[in-house]
This record gives sequence, C-alpha cells and structure tokens, in this order.
Amino acid sequence: MTLNKPSVLLTGGAGYIGSHTFVALVEAGYQPVILDDFSNSHPAVLQRLEQLTEQPVICERGNVLDTPWVVEVLQRHRCVAAIHFAGFKAVGESVQKPLMYYQNNVGGLLSLLQAMETTECRSVVFSSSATVYGDPASVPIDEQFPCAPESPYAHTKLMCENILASLRTSDPAWRVGVLRYFNPVGAHPSGLIGEDPSGIPNNLMPYVTQVAVGKRAMVNVFGNDYPTPDGTGVRDYLHVTDLAAGHVAAVSALLAHGKSFTINLGTGEGTSVLEVIQAFERASGRSIPYEFAPRRAGDVAQYFADVSLAGSLLGWRAQCTMDDMCRDSWHWQQRNPEGYRTVTSSPPALQVPVPASSNVSARPAVGM
Ligand code: NAD
Ligand code: UD1
Repeated sequence: MTLNKPSVLLTGGAGYIGSHTFVALVEAGYQPVILDDFSNSHPAVLQRLEQLTEQPVICERGNVLDTPWVVEVLQRHRCVAAIHFAGFKAVGESVQKPLMYYQNNVGGLLSLLQAMETTECRSVVFSSSATVYGDPASVPIDEQFPCAPESPYAHTKLMCENILASLRTSDPAWRVGVLRYFNPVGAHPSGLIGEDPSGIPNNLMPYVTQVAVGKRAMVNVFGNDYPTPDGTGVRDYLHVTDLAAGHVAAVSALLAHGKSFTINLGTGEGTSVLEVIQAFERASGRSIPYEFAPRRAGDVAQYFADVSLAGSLLGWRAQCTMDDMCRDSWHWQQRNPEGYRTVTSSPPALQVPVPASSNVSARPAVGM
C-alpha cells in the first residue's frame, strides 16, 4: 500500500486491457501494481503510463506461474485484491498449441490463487470472455445462457471460471468477480496507450486501423451471407476505457460488500463488419477498401450482450459509441504507427522499479 491507497495486483497489467485498467484504477484512488513477463507487451508502455498518471509506475517483471515469487510480490505491496489479466488470447494459436494455452491460462490462475491463499488476499477479478457462450441460440446473451466453449482458448476460460466457483464454494471468504468481455476495441483518448498487436492482426478493429494507415491493402470481410441485416458478422464492440471502468466497479464492489458475481461487459448493441468499416471511414476521413471473403472457421453470425446485470450489480454502463471507438483507435494508430516501438521525439522520464525477480519464463521476454 502507498500512502494508504489500497494496492491491487494487475497480472498482465502491461497488456492492452491491463494498461487501460491501470489508468482507471489510479484515477479511482487505488495503487495498481503490474506483474507482467512482457511475453505479449512492450516495456515502453510503462513510460506512457507514467506520463498519463503523473506518478511512478510499480511494475514487477516475471511470470505468474512462479508461485513463490507471486507470494513475495503480494506481500511486498500489501495487495488487497488482484485482477488476473495475464494469459494468452489468440483463438487460432490455441488450436495449434493447446498445451501452451492450458498451462499458461489455467496454470497461471492456479498459481495466482495459491499465492493469494498463502497471503490471505482473497478478492479476485478474472478476465473471462463471451467466447465461453460458443454459438448462442439467440441474442442478446445473458449470464444464464449455457456455456459451450469451442476452441482450447475458450475452454481455458471456462475451466478458470469453474476453478473460481469451486474455490468460492470451499471458502466463503473468497470474493470472486468473473467478467465476460465482449469485443474490446479502441484506445485511451490521449493516444498514449492502445492495442499493439504483433504481426498481422487477427481481430477486425486493429486490421481496419492498419488498412486506414496504409499498412495493409484492404479488409477481408469474412462472410456476407450470415443471417444478419447486411449479411456480415455482428458483434458487441466495447470501448476499452469503458471496460477499464468496469474493472474498477468490480474491484470496488468486491471490496465493499464481498458478494461474488459473474457478469457480461458489453454495450448491449450489435454492430456489423460493414458498419464498423463505415464508422472508421467517418472517424479517419479515409476510404477503407474491402472485399468479401469466405467465412472464417469458428465464427458465429452474431452475438451481443444483455448488460442489465452489470447495471444492477455494479452500477456500470458503457458510455462510448462506435464513433468514439473508431476515433480513439485512429488517434492511437496515427500517433504510434509502429505501436510502442514508435520512437517519440520527447520520451517521458522513466523511474520504474523493475526487479529482476523471476527465473521462470513460459516464453522469452522482450528486451527492456
Ligand atoms: P494482452 O496480451 O495485451 O495482455 C496480457 C498480458 O499478460 C501481456 O502483457 C502479457 O505479457 C502478460 N502475460 C501473459 N502470460 C503471462 C504470464 N504467464 N506471466 C506474466 N504475464 C503474462 O491481452 P489483453 O487483450 O489485454 O487481454 C487481457 C485478458 O483479457 C486476457 O486474459 C484475455 O484472454 C482476456 N480477454 C481479452 C479479450 C480481447 O479482445 N482483448 C476479450 C476477452 C477476454
Ligand atoms: C475473436 C475471438 C474471441 C475473442 C475476441 C477478442 C474467434 C473465433 N473469436 O472474436 O474468442 O474473445 O476475438 O476480441 O477468433 N472480421 C473480418 N475481417 C477480419 C477480421 C474479422 O471480417 O480481418 C470479422 C469476423 O468474421 C467477425 C468480426 O469481424 O464477424 C469480429 O471479428 P474479431 O474482431 O476477430 O472478433 P470475434 O471473432 O468476435
């Protein structure tokens, strides 16, 4: 704890959603502590966070699978809660490398929970995904819908949810918030932090952004014969800053009243691929060429959330529109054409304690 601010551990806090949640937690009066091995993030994000929050960023570099070290981190910072973002998230890669996904995603959660049990820190928020619902029978999807995961990635998320449910049953002292995200997109309005995919983006919004900036020739629209209004896939896109606010609401609710929950975080509205492209054209003032391509294996026609439970339990509701999401994605891309590898003219001062604390590494870490 720093100056009596409650410390919250953010595993995977240097990643896309974790970094935006870091900012939201600081603004809400918490002291976030990042734990990350930088297997899918860049250390330059720490400088950006320092610039945004105007305070030193606490970052512990290492692997969440290293349980004794996680115990040390929780104790050193006197964490009262943890948000578990750390994990691998590429659906296609999970089909190719299932063991890597089960080990990191399920093993990572087990390791964190064991460390939390040891230190008697028993409030945890978990990053789950709407992908646990599989192909829903209807929309909107509420939390009582059956889970039917299809990919190994989706299975890891449901396994984690089940582990957390067992833990809650075993000991009511555990306070568990499971958040099922729909499609997070966008970036911080400052343009300082955003999504930084390596290689060819798998997801629609970063792909469209790269077409707008001229890095890629055109968008392949996967399928135009779905039973949707314009034939293209419909999703519930959610601004990442709204999602970050949802994490603050979730942690605050757990710490205040201690009741566990599983909730959807989305806007409750569906947007088609063609509508996303049109919104991005409005935001960027550029034309986005596209062509229709065959359906992508594993895709569903449409899904969007019933978000009433998030409203009634957390008092949370998404505020941003699709135009806001496109504007902020575009701003981030323009300011950072090479993501965090972009060299800025005046890099902010860096005073980040980064202890070389873990000798366990699931993947090689990037250089500092
Ligand atoms: P991300 O890859 O940007 O962030 C994950 C972070 O975890 C990275 O910084 C990575 O370096 C770190 N990490 C991975 N394994 C680790 C380990 N073993 N030890 C320490 N650090 C480790 O991903 P994101 O988009 O920010 O997603 C965060 C979480 O939300 C993930 O669990 C993901 O499955 C889930 N989620 C994401 C989406 C999405 O669309 N982005 C949707 C639903 C759920
Ligand atoms: C995908 C994952 C999901 C994950 C989510 C994270 C799959 C099957 N699902 O969801 O588990 O939680 O990302 O955001 O991978 N599209 C195109 N062209 C593209 C890219 C996408 O037309 O180049 C279409 C897709 O067919 C889909 C929509 O855009 O209709 C959104 O795709 P995407 O951003 O990849 O998200 P999801 O498929 O919803």
